[in-house]
Amino acid sequence: MVEIRDFRSEDVDEVLSILHACFGPTGLEDVDRVNLLGWHYQFPGGMKVALEKGRIVGFVFAFNSYRVGWITLLCVKPELRGRGIGTSLLRSAIEHLRERGVEVIKLDVEPDNPALGLYRKFGFEVERTLLRLRKKPP
Ligand SMILES: CC(C)(COP(=O)(O)OP(=O)(O)OC[C@H]1O[C@@H](n2cnc3c(N)ncnc32)[C@H](O)[C@@H]1OP(=O)(O)O)[C@@H](O)C(=O)NCCC(=O)NCCS
Repeated sequence: MVEIRDFRSEDVDEVLSILHACFGPTGLEDVDRVNLLGWHYQFPGGMKVALEKGRIVGFVFAFNSYRVGWITLLCVKPELRGRGIGTSLLRSAIEHLRERGVEVIKLDVEPDNPALGLYRKFGFEVERTLLRLRKKPP
């Protein structure tokens, strides 16, 4: 049975290792311990962990900017997917943002990510598609 609770600062290393397992180090080039701990203090209650038998098996981060809520970094340990843990995490992130009084919840997802099925089940609809550009500074 999965339990969802608020992130605690002592969770940081376990969460980082799950994030790396989900997104790979290059997909997370801007997330490290300092980021996670900073968000924890900046957005109290916005980071949630999923626990099974006392071990962290998933993570999500919800934050808001005024009336717009954002959900990001939803991930579940690869070997434990397909058992409803992602659903529980997403539900808890949405509930957190509802309590914060947001008017809309947004998230970014790549068009071929199977997580789209999960988001659609919760009623998310495509707002627009974007291209991300990059360049190294001169
Ligand atoms: C997205 C993710 C968090 C889902 O976690 P999960 O615990 O497997 O989710 P659930 O078991 O609650 O599955 C819920 C729904 O997700 C969809 N889904 C998730 N992963 C899927 C996959 N690999 N293939 C097909 N559908 C998938 C299905 O619609 C599923 O609903 P169903 O069981 O009724 O078919 C997990 O796959 C993950 O960590 N992915 C890598 C990280 C990632 O891409 N995160 C999203 C960034 S936007």
